[in-house]
Amino acid sequence: MNQEQLRNMILNVHKNRFATKKFDPTQSIDEKDWNTIIESARLSPSSFGYEPWKFLIIDNNKIKEDLKPIAWGAVNSLEGANKFVIALARKNIVYNSDHVKHIVQDVLGLSYSESSPQSLFFKKFQENDFKLTDGKSLFNWTVKQTYIPLANMMTTASFLGIDSCPIEGFNIDEVESYLSKKGLIDLEKFGVAYMAGFGYRDQELPAKKRQPLQDIYTVID
Ligand SMILES: Cc1cc2nc3c(=O)[nH]c(=O)nc-3n(C[C@H](O)[C@H](O)[C@H](O)COP(=O)(O)O)c2cc1C
Repeated sequence: MNQEQLRNMILNVHKNRFATKKFDPTQSIDEKDWNTIIESARLSPSSFGYEPWKFLIIDNNKIKEDLKPIAWGAVNSLEGANKFVIALARKNIVYNSDHVKHIVQDVLGLSYSESSPQSLFFKKFQENDFKLTDGKSLFNWTVKQTYIPLANMMTTASFLGIDSCPIEGFNIDEVESYLSKKGLIDLEKFGVAYMAGFGYRDQELPAKKRQPLQDIYTVID
């Protein structure tokens, strides 16, 4: 494939991805395709490499039914998508939190100390540069990062001919309290970021409506 064919292929992948409203519930995603989609999430970048996320794959029909009244934007996916994801973002990720220690030691294979230059640099970044000084701002900061795996999963799916729908149409308090009662989330450590459905469309590809490039793109000389 030459460069021009590659460019066209990539743009077609993006044009072919749309927020699928009607999925065909009879079609299943091949396990290797699904593993590739999840791997694109796992390989996603995160601030300082702390990977502040977790993904729940809801295969349980009772839970799907229970979610419908509290997740209006997810009903289409809950009814027809073959895979249904709830993305969780970590809370209170700071220089001396257990998760940071775990990533530094067990994932990055480095030694950890609260007073190391790296720890203090991260502390300064959070507190001085990004003003991440309370629980809400810290949570919003990790939630932002969870949208990178979302984009990667949707694009990877589209490459594989698999449709998707990103979902924020739910009541966060109700969904969190439901998942907590089910023992599926520890609200001290995690909050819900978004949901997403993956499967096969049972509808035509709608026309893409977007602002023209000149309205969103400015080159500063
Ligand atoms: C963060 C986010 C949340 C969204 N929430 C929902 C949702 O709850 N339900 C839904 O059907 N679509 C949802 N969408 C889909 C958007 O409406 C859709 O992406 C947008 O209108 C552009 O259309 P397209 O993705 O088909 O090109 C969401 C999209 C994003 C990025």
